[in-house]
Amino acid sequence: MHPQFHLSPIKNWCNDPVGFIYYQGNYHLFYQYFPYGCTWGTMHWRHAMSQDLVHWQDLDIALYPSKSYDANGCFSGSSLEVNGQMYIYYTSIQYTRPDPENIHQNISGDDFIASQSMLISPDGFHFDNIKDKHLIIPVFKDGEIGHSTHTRDPKVWKHNDTYYMVLASKYLDENNHYQGQLLFYTSLDAKEWTYQNNYRGIKIGDMWECPDIFQIKKQQFLIMSPERTENHGYPSHARITTCDFSHDNCELTITNELRLLDYGRDLYAPQTTIDDSGRRIYIGWMRMPVKADGWRGLFIYPRVIEYHDGHIYTRLHPHVKALFNKETDHFDYQKATHIHTTMHSGDSMNIGGYIIQYQDCLKVDRTHVFQSGNKDVDLICETPSIEHCDLDIYVDQYIIEIYINDGYYVLSHVVYDLDNTIESTTPYTMKIAKVV
Ligand code: FRU
Repeated sequence: MHPQFHLSPIKNWCNDPVGFIYYQGNYHLFYQYFPYGCTWGTMHWRHAMSQDLVHWQDLDIALYPSKSYDANGCFSGSSLEVNGQMYIYYTSIQYTRPDPENIHQNISGDDFIASQSMLISPDGFHFDNIKDKHLIIPVFKDGEIGHSTHTRDPKVWKHNDTYYMVLASKYLDENNHYQGQLLFYTSLDAKEWTYQNNYRGIKIGDMWECPDIFQIKKQQFLIMSPERTENHGYPSHARITTCDFSHDNCELTITNELRLLDYGRDLYAPQTTIDDSGRRIYIGWMRMPVKADGWRGLFIYPRVIEYHDGHIYTRLHPHVKALFNKETDHFDYQKATHIHTTMHSGDSMNIGGYIIQYQDCLKVDRTHVFQSGNKDVDLICETPSIEHCDLDIYVDQYIIEIYINDGYYVLSHVVYDLDNTIESTTPYTMKIAKVV
């Protein structure tokens, strides 16, 4: 069974959300997709569309390998409306040593070269992979601007009359260690791109995937997913910080700690866009170590990013919130449910085998609702300390999202095999969706 309201592929593998955009009256969300099974392989972009960010229509594959430069995959990227058309930017991948026994993989995992490309769709529904693709930033040569293999994930935006692109990349530091860096390009027509600057100001992990720079009111933010920052559980996580980005010279300064975007640590490679009311929203990929019934990977509910009194909040999108309007006292883990509770120190709740406790911080334990043999995934997670504990918990098949103190922190987890029991040391209310 698929989740009731969380987006997931009908079948096969998915990872990063890409090309997320509100375009001519519809939300278009693409995602990294492997059409031939439940493992990562030659990347395609699968297309989903929604009018409300709640109900998603599956629209098949939009981008697929069709050129020599993207023969082995169309990696992550973004889209933008330019002169009424949908401009899609992505990383084009060519294997230098494909695995002869499985052409969807390369021998070492690093045997490929990356360039940046675009596809212009006239309307967001037609994607001519033969006629409308263009190479925009060729593979780097040794010592040039960025890494020839690990440069990817173009995120593009417009500011005044100029288009900006940020790219993930890495470089070798003076001690011969790889460090992450960001590359900035600009363009006047969104087709021809000129390199402007890089950012190497902090050291965290060794490659910074899926960067995203955006502004809410007067404050700018950076989201990215630095790789290999930890040696337990998943080594790489999505992070967020405030920043200053100068649109005059593409100089970036990070102005705060690069903290986890979601304290459950399953979330990866989120992407933001602007919704029809001007809110900055994001969606992200939840890593699933074991496939469900013929599919693997799913997406969080769309969330709104807000900034109040120097703190970054991520709140559930109001369209999703509005769904849960029918009170119930019967918990059924296969029905998307909203549980609300306030915990005091020492309180705990057991939702179908998933345990939530509050004492100084929020601590969760999914040991009983996770398939065995996944030692690489954190089973127990906690937030930084919190002074009170008001929880909005959203349960859906395979996923639990916990919004703490109105989005002050959020913690989400992939879960398997919940049951229909619920126990709590503190009162709670439950709501499901009346109309589907
Ligand atoms: C992040 C990522 C991106 C890349 C894509 C490939 O999960 O590694 O950096 O473009 O996935 O599927």
